[in-house]
Amino acid sequence: MKTLGIDIGSRNTKTLIFDVEHQQIAHYAWQTTDINPLSSVEALLQQAELATGIKMQQISATAVTGYGRKLYKKADRILSEISCHAAGSLFYYPTAHTVIDIGGQDSKIICLSDEGKVLDFVMNDKCAAGTGRFLEMTAIRLGVDVSQLSDMAKEADKELTLNSTCVVFAESEIIGMMADNQSAANIVRSVHRSIAKRIFSQMSALNHHPPYVFTGGVAQNPDLTWCLEAELNSGLLLPPEPEITGALGAAILANK
Ligand SMILES: Nc1ncnc2c1ncn2[C@@H]1O[C@H](COP(=O)(O)OP(=O)(O)OP(=O)(O)O)[C@@H](O)[C@H]1O
Ligand SMILES: [Mg+2]
Repeated sequence: MKTLGIDIGSRNTKTLIFDVEHQQIAHYAWQTTDINPLSSVEALLQQAELATGIKMQQISATAVTGYGRKLYKKADRILSEISCHAAGSLFYYPTAHTVIDIGGQDSKIICLSDEGKVLDFVMNDKCAAGTGRFLEMTAIRLGVDVSQLSDMAKEADKELTLNSTCVVFAESEIIGMMADNQSAANIVRSVHRSIAKRIFSQMSALNHHPPYVFTGGVAQNPDLTWCLEAELNSGLLLPPEPEITGALGAAILANK
């Protein structure tokens, strides 16, 4: 039996086919969310059929999550990102107590009970400061790809402080740092520290405990992960492909 999870995120759309019998991922893929998010879903599903030979008619249950979830009408279940990131994290780390998901537009922190039930959660409030959007803005300003930021920050040799708690003002601060001839490495590190501090302060509203799992596209940034670990004074567990955790959770919950 195969189930399908779809995560229509604000930045990227992810699809994942889960092999229920063998309890393993059969296929996954993602692409930038199109202006018409449904065309991203259709393109990814065609890709999945071609890659695996599994026809969509063979899928026994489908669940959809993400900010665009209500657009997709063919799913058996429409699920919150909270429950999907929790389920996807628990698949890899059954004893997880806290999930930190940082995507392109949102950051969410979820507290789990010993039995893996969602106890509490917080989400950022329409502010890009603790999200991948901040990384994207920084990459554009520095003329690099977002995937290069972590390696750049590893060369940092000075702690710069970004004071702005708003991305719009932070951008002006970054322009000021560039005009002061500060190195790109030190600028990127200050952005990573700022995001980590923002997430940590968001978490103060919760009674959180380790083990901590880090999910979402931003978890692909090792330097930011390291900054967040420093704030938490604890290690972070990373799923093998953190960006697809929500789609994995959706696929796992699709037939429940
Ligand atoms: N290779 C990479 N290294 C570092 N960061 C990355 C990388 N690839 C993507 N990102 C970051 O991941 C973000 C997208 O993550 P994700 O796909 O989880 O978002 P989303 O689910 O679409 O958004 P949301 O959950 O907020 O609706 C981008 O904004 C970018 O900053
Ligand atoms: Mg997401």
